Amino acid sequence: MPDVLVTGGAGFIGSHTVDGLVEQGYKVRVLDNLEPQVHTSKKITHINPGAEYINGDIRYRKHWIRALEGVEYIIHLAGAVGIAQSFWQVKKYVDVNASGTANLYQAIEEVPKIRSNLRKIVVASSKSCYGEGTYSCDKHGPFNPLQRPIQQLKNHQWEVLCPVCGRQSGPKAIREDKPLQNLNPYSLSKYVTEQLSMDYSYALGIETVAFRYFNVYGSRQSLSNPYTGVMAIFLSRLKNGNPPVIFEDGNQVRDYIHVSDVAAANRLALERGNGVYNLGTGIPTPLKEIATRLAGLNGLDILPHITSDYRPGDNRHDFADNTKLNRDLKVSNFMSLEKGLSELIHWSADQVAVDKFALSESQRKKYLT
Ligand SMILES: NC(=O)c1ccc[n+]([C@@H]2O[C@H](COP(=O)([O-])OP(=O)(O)OC[C@H]3O[C@@H](n4cnc5c(N)ncnc54)[C@H](O)[C@@H]3O)[C@@H](O)[C@H]2O)c1
Ligand SMILES: [Zn+2]
Repeated sequence: MPDVLVTGGAGFIGSHTVDGLVEQGYKVRVLDNLEPQVHTSKKITHINPGAEYINGDIRYRKHWIRALEGVEYIIHLAGAVGIAQSFWQVKKYVDVNASGTANLYQAIEEVPKIRSNLRKIVVASSKSCYGEGTYSCDKHGPFNPLQRPIQQLKNHQWEVLCPVCGRQSGPKAIREDKPLQNLNPYSLSKYVTEQLSMDYSYALGIETVAFRYFNVYGSRQSLSNPYTGVMAIFLSRLKNGNPPVIFEDGNQVRDYIHVSDVAAANRLALERGNGVYNLGTGIPTPLKEIATRLAGLNGLDILPHITSDYRPGDNRHDFADNTKLNRDLKVSNFMSLEKGLSELIHWSADQVAVDKFALSESQRKKYLT
């Protein structure tokens, strides 16, 4: 079987992807710098004995060049992850996500052997590139709004209003051709990853898949990183006896996809597909349902704290239209939320979770208001 390089392969999605590839017989190499915000100890927690690990940083081209030796496939998942935090660490987010990916293509350009070995590239983009979701007015049909005006949020009018008649409008599944908004440095830097990979795919004739992941959840998502992963943040709160904090009214929906489905799609994309794809189940679930179910599954009688306040920059609803994914990659049988949550709870039972939510909130208030 061919050689695959998985960047970020020690992380949440990466480690599951590595396990799946090794199981299928691929020879896997990992490039990961064990970012301290994600890896609380200096050792890799989920090491696969069948893979080779290189402790290296995508911000250095020489680390890429070493890791790319003999590689036929790349799954590029390494990245700085966190929306709000990207505002106060903008340089880092641009360096890792945008320049880090640029280093990959610079290496391909500079070393002919790397380019001639390469057969396919898969990169992680994000649904956050869409910004606000797609909506439909009963009378005026579908539309793609801008962010809700701050005055509307101050009036606790959470739902998106039709720009023609002002009526409340419901969410619709987001298609890949929805205009992007990239409302924060994280999204913009992920978009650079995505678009660079598409530009080079065309220019060099290397088949490339960019996945816009929706909300990925499941075992191994860091429970002590308060900047990313709403389920992990809620679980960390609950495990410390604190209520999950929910902004607005808790009825905002998201599309939760289990990490095993994402790992499987990453693997399948080595064989099928070319271009940009949503990777979500297409099923919308309200945020307050997630908080309540997580508490119940942990046997805890802790209700979420619904603040009735807002965070500037949050979108109201989003969930994926995965028609294109199903058509090209034949991915459609996703794990049910019930099964996925029980996998997460089972894993988390003996995990240490440091609740840093208050810290992340104090930083957000310091830097963003
Ligand atoms: N988890 C989600 O819901 C989600 C949603 C959309 C997109 N994504 C994208 O998926 C990818 C994987 O995310 P994840 O949730 O597994 O996050 P994660 O933080 O668990 O994994 C990222 C990995 O990248 C490594 N890394 C960070 N900076 C690096 C650098 N400079 N050099 C080398 N390695 C570095 C980290 O050590 C970590 O192991 C990211 O690119 C992220 O933007 C994730
Ligand atoms: Zn209308």
